[in-house]
Amino acid sequence: MSDTQTNQTWGGRFTESTDAFVAAFTASVDFDRRMYRQDINGSIAHARMLARVGVLSLDDCEAIVRGLEEIRAEIERGEFTWSAALEDVHMNIEARLTERIGDAGKRLHTGRSRNDQVATDIRLYLRDAIDAIDDEIRRLLSGLAELATREADTIMPGFTHLQVAQPVTFGHHLLAWFEMLKRDYERLIDCRKRVNVMPLGAAALAGTGYPLDRHYTAQLLDFAAPCANSLDAVSDRDFAIEFAAASAILMTHLSRMAEELVLWSSAQFDFVDLPDRFCTGSSIMPQKKNPDVPELVRGKVGRVNGHLIALLTLMKSQPLAYNKDNQEDKEPLFDTVDTVQGCLRAFAELIPALHPKRGNMLQAARRGFATATDLADYLARKGVPFRDAHEIVGKAVRRGIETSRDLVDMTLDELREFSPLIEFDVFEVLSLEGSVAARKGVGGTAPDQVREAATAARAWLAELP
Ligand code: ARG
Repeated sequence: MSDTQTNQTWGGRFTESTDAFVAAFTASVDFDRRMYRQDINGSIAHARMLARVGVLSLDDCEAIVRGLEEIRAEIERGEFTWSAALEDVHMNIEARLTERIGDAGKRLHTGRSRNDQVATDIRLYLRDAIDAIDDEIRRLLSGLAELATREADTIMPGFTHLQVAQPVTFGHHLLAWFEMLKRDYERLIDCRKRVNVMPLGAAALAGTGYPLDRHYTAQLLDFAAPCANSLDAVSDRDFAIEFAAASAILMTHLSRMAEELVLWSSAQFDFVDLPDRFCTGSSIMPQKKNPDVPELVRGKVGRVNGHLIALLTLMKSQPLAYNKDNQEDKEPLFDTVDTVQGCLRAFAELIPALHPKRGNMLQAARRGFATATDLADYLARKGVPFRDAHEIVGKAVRRGIETSRDLVDMTLDELREFSPLIEFDVFEVLSLEGSVAARKGVGGTAPDQVREAATAARAWLAELP
């Protein structure tokens, strides 16, 4: 980064050059250069539109387009010298363009301001980022749907309050994760609609007197439409807040999945084995295999929540239209994109490599009286009011606790002490297989139902555009 240049962009009005500290303090090029591709694409579209409406000569337009493409190649080869004195990505690229092609470069900014330019760049950037994130979510979703199909018959304890509640199938649990992430996917698709409108043409804040064809520029950049109000166009950052909010919810989901993976891979649960390549050891304790990847994903929700609050706070009370505060939108936004992408990638690769320990899950479901509700339902079906059935089964459970046995391990005579309505068919009801198979309604945990839900999930994925 060369700091020797002074900013000439607004030199006309100023009698002294910018203080070196102030130049560094206000510069954003260190982070906004990430949007160089979007900035160049936006400029090319703007130049083409200016030529089409006769504001720019065709020769100038061609020189600008070629010059910008060469600059893009320079940047990609790592040969571009970014200058903090030129403040941001926009002025760095424009200055270099003028250096390369002379006066035509100075005509590019006709009918445009950095205010509509930067807002356009961020939207183009975020649109691409959302598409990339959506691809990762789909990859993770398809891994979950496949694993769910394989594990449709695997019985595990279902929990409430982290206490064994009722048996469920592992496939059912995986499809619960699927539903959470499917909503996240849909939220991002919806958010993208509000990202995909074009600020260009709003200029500094009021629009411009040049006869711009904003619809044409929007078409060149694949935007659905130009923003309807110039003041709103340069100052709106709702789309970034919305993206951060959708990301925070997504990260919340990933952190919940992460927490379960951490628990399940512990010696106390021992429901799954995480592949070694996703874990690390301890420098002191030789026996350790730590679930670092899920733990890190669980921890990273904090920074995304922080970015959401940063963006909300940044926008709060800002008067119309553009204010320099808005420059603070980029770092939270970029880090949100990076974090979400990294976490999704980690899980998209981890989930298909998960090794479920079916025997341990089954054993765990056998402990904790997971079929007590089934016994209460059994009595209720025989006419006992459910509240009374609940009381009867509670007593049987207490006997089980005192004698360290599950209900299914008691003899028929013993069970009949609690209710003479209990008959031999109770053992079908008390079995884990019978319990899950009974829950065969839509959204239930029965293996057949899970297989059907997993098939529907895969069909939904296959139909996505
Ligand atoms: N770097 C600035 C930003 O990110 C670009 C727009 C600057 N506009 C201005 N009038 N100072 O917001």
